[in-house]
Amino acid sequence: MTEKAQHLLVGIDLGTSQSAIVTSAGVRMVVDSYVGWPVDAVARKILKKEVLFGQEAVENRTMLEVHRPLERGLLKEGSDKDQQAIRELLSHLLDIAGIPEVRKSGGKVRAVVGVPAEALRVNKQHVREAMRGLVDGLIIVSEPFAVAYGLDALLHAMVVDAGAGTTDFCVMKGRYPTEEDQRTLINAGDWVDDQLYTLLGEHHPGMSVSIHTVRDWKEKYSFIGKAPGKVTVSIPIKGVPSQVDITDEVKQACESLGPPVAEAMLDLIASGESEYQDKVRQNIILAGGCSQIPGFGQYLEQAMNQFGGGKRTRSMPAPPVASSWQRTPRRPIGKSCRTSRVLVQHRAAGFVVRASRLHRVP
Ligand SMILES: Nc1ncnc2c1ncn2[C@@H]1O[C@H](COP(=O)(O)OP(=O)(O)OP(=O)(O)O)[C@@H](O)[C@H]1O
Ligand SMILES: [Mg+2]
Repeated sequence: MTEKAQHLLVGIDLGTSQSAIVTSAGVRMVVDSYVGWPVDAVARKILKKEVLFGQEAVENRTMLEVHRPLERGLLKEGSDKDQQAIRELLSHLLDIAGIPEVRKSGGKVRAVVGVPAEALRVNKQHVREAMRGLVDGLIIVSEPFAVAYGLDALLHAMVVDAGAGTTDFCVMKGRYPTEEDQRTLINAGDWVDDQLYTLLGEHHPGMSVSIHTVRDWKEKYSFIGKAPGKVTVSIPIKGVPSQVDITDEVKQACESLGPPVAEAMLDLIASGESEYQDKVRQNIILAGGCSQIPGFGQYLEQAMNQFGGGKRTRSMPAPPVASSWQRTPRRPIGKSCRTSRVLVQHRAAGFVVRASRLHRVP
């Protein structure tokens, strides 16, 4: 080992829509969770790369076989390419954070990987295998637990992590959560995108937009409750660009998320011991990208009113959709820091404080 060899702590958040890495050396990167391989020799000649990631893969998707390694909270394991995609994505995150160099110089790297709650249950071994040989020590945790740990909300609190593939719920009882402390719903961001896409197709036959464009509109204009204004977008209909009012469709798609999330949240609270239920209702942490839908938090608070009231004490939104890491290196990121705090809190409190100041949103 060289004199300069560093020992590094690494936090990775493996998400359906975005994945992120943060290290105790201060590196913070976020990548959209897409992996793409050139479909043929022509595509390879144009792209001059064997594999592309993130926004770069989305932008060049006509030339690529694109994979998103996670879907509905689970790692896809059907084909060789699915298996390869997860390993490629994890190695890419470690590469851009400079981990191979650290290990080459004799440093030891210990990682915490946060995955959706369902993936922790079903795919833990798969994640472990995908990380084999890439780091020297590994802990895999569920994302909602990572949020709770990072915020020090370990007792009588509930995390509602509304991401892209799943909404994960976790009640914290002052111990590592068991299966009965957690719930997973597939009603999350991707599901809202599908609703919006279907509604627009029904109301505007001949419309030609991709699911990526529909997702962009959702992220820009989403709301639950009273519309903040009219939402008008340009949609090519039978090849002719047309200005279309999509306010009602956006409202309907976003609001469809409310009832299943509220129901699962209340059900999980009610399944706990009655003397603690009120405390949990007063300490709900809404996390994940969908927590940025205006009116979502208020909707959940209203739902709790029927049961003696409750409070969303904090929101922890994920960062706005990231552009590729090449364009936005070292941007401060919210959700990866949730994972990083799990990791770093074991060892270096100072870093935790910095991360909290950056990303905790009251
Ligand atoms: N401003 C916004 N308004 C509405 N939705 C948003 C906004 N910003 C991001 N989202 C949505 O949040 C979701 C991504 O959230 P997040 O980054 O927490 O997911 P993830 O961790 O990748 O997914 P999962 O936890 O399910 O694996 C996407 O569906 C995205 O479209
Ligand atoms: Mg997530």
